[in-house]
Amino acid sequence: MNKDVLSILVSEDEIDTITTRIAAEIDRDYADSGKKLLLLCILKGSVVFMGDLMKKITLPVEIDFMKVSSYGAGTASSGRVNILLDLHRQDLPDVDIVIVEDIIDSGRTLSYLIDYLKLKGANSVKTCTLLDKPERRDPSLVDFHPDYCGTIIPDEFVIGYGLDYDEQYRALPYVGILKPEVYTK
Ligand code: PRP
Repeated sequence: MNKDVLSILVSEDEIDTITTRIAAEIDRDYADSGKKLLLLCILKGSVVFMGDLMKKITLPVEIDFMKVSSYGAGTASSGRVNILLDLHRQDLPDVDIVIVEDIIDSGRTLSYLIDYLKLKGANSVKTCTLLDKPERRDPSLVDFHPDYCGTIIPDEFVIGYGLDYDEQYRALPYVGILKPEVYTK
């Protein structure tokens, strides 16, 4: 185990079980859609989950990427996000999008992206997350529930399997809790 990890929260085996389950759910839900299925990875944290998940989906699937960043806490009430890398395609009315995220915290990123992609004309937009931290949600601001969820986790500082602290730890094969002394230094 990495020396900065306090404990493993979601093991490699557990992640494997999760990706197998969610891939089967997506296969089931889109089998008869008649549209193109697009997995939309939100960079950067979701890239590892996306890579494992897409290999287990048996339906024809396309992939694409967006990069977004939340506005700072001072402007949080706006609920908007900055789009740093956009999705450019002309055929969105023929596309069912599944947005793939590593983690949901406040829910602002995904609730914004759903509205944004529907406005752009997507036939449908669903959301998929490996980790969900519902404790971090304020339902009076954003009452958000993902369509596909790997596992619910407590409000801990998690890293690994795509998730970072200061751009480190993304390559760990499991999700771990970061030792507090690492980020309180
Ligand atoms: C994380 C995560 C989501 C967002 C969730 O990304 O991947 O995109 O934050 O937060 P929310 O539910 O409060 O909107 P982050 O900004 O850490 O970027 P990264 O994936 O590039 O590390």
